[in-house]
Order: sequence, then C-alpha cells, then structure tokens
Amino acid sequence: MAESTVTPASPAPAAAPVPPGIDTAAIRAAAQNLADGPVTAGYKGDREAVIKLLNGALATELVCILRYKRHYYTVSGRDNAGVKAEFLEHAMQEQEHADWLAERIIQLNGEPDFNPATLLDRSHAEYDESAEVQSMVRANLIAERVAIESYRQMIETIGDTDPTTRQLLIKIMAVEEEHADDMRDLLE
Ligand SMILES: [Fe+2]
Ligand SMILES: [Fe+2]
Repeated sequence: MAESTVTPASPAPAAAPVPPGIDTAAIRAAAQNLADGPVTAGYKGDREAVIKLLNGALATELVCILRYKRHYYTVSGRDNAGVKAEFLEHAMQEQEHADWLAERIIQLNGEPDFNPATLLDRSHAEYDESAEVQSMVRANLIAERVAIESYRQMIETIGDTDPTTRQLLIKIMAVEEEHADDMRDLLE
C-alpha cells in the first residue's frame, strides 16, 4: 500500500527543546518513590556515610551546648559579665547548629542520634569542667578549633556529591570560626 502523502492541516507542535545539562528521564523518575521524600534517584552522595558524618557533627554540637551552658551558669562576678554573655550566645548558636543537623539527617531519611550514653565518645570536641574562667575560655577555643577542622574535613569529603549538606556544613563552620575568634579575644 502506498504511503499517504496527505499533509496535516496544521503541523504537530515541536517538542520543547531540552536545555543542555537537563536529563528529562531522570527528572521524570523523581516523580516516583514518594516515600523517599527529598532524596531522589539522582542523589549523588553516599547517603549512609553522610548521615554518619552528620551524626558525628550533631554529637559535637550537643557536647558544645552542654559545655557552654555549664560555663555560662558557673561563671560569676561583675568582671565576667561579658564572658558570661558570650558563653550563652555560643550555647544558643550551637543549639541552632544541632537542630539544623538533625533536620538534615531526617531529610536524608536517617536517624539523628541523641543518645546521651554515647554522646561524648561520638563527639569530636570535649566537655570541660574547669573552675576558672580563663581555663574555660581556653577549653572553648580548643573545642572550636577542633570543630572547625572536623567541619573542614566533612566538607572536603562530601565535595559536590550533596550540595545541600555541603552548604549547611559551610554555614555552620563559618559560625565556629567566629566562635574561635571570640574566644581568642577573651584569652588573657
Ligand atoms: Fe556549632
Ligand atoms: Fe562553636
């Protein structure tokens, strides 16, 4: 049978051009597996490993909250009012960091580990029971420097495999750098 040579009255609309760098099939695949929430098939991170890193950071932040809170409540005297205020501000910012990390772990379908029995073992930074204010400042400066280095390593490890986590860790690290600077200023 001869092929029809009838020309359609109006030509079919051309498919919208796909810009380079866009994988339409992968985008459509993201419409599946709704239980995975924000994690799509194209997620390039090692999810389990990233969750482990984030839980280490969470433990570190929780220990930092406890250390700063202890310092805040223990320090007294009119001369130490400025240091006391600084300890409280840092405690509240570490709390914010802990919340961001726990939230990110949930987004990655992981479990944030708040277990107090293993907290100190899992934390990169240490708790401190100094009685004297300058020893407290020193302990905090050490802990902040440890936190900065641990965040730096996590950011390097994640590279560009998980941009959201990377961005979060960079945001937190910048605050830890401010904290270290604040503690250095208070060091006599
Ligand atoms: Fe922090
Ligand atoms: Fe800090």
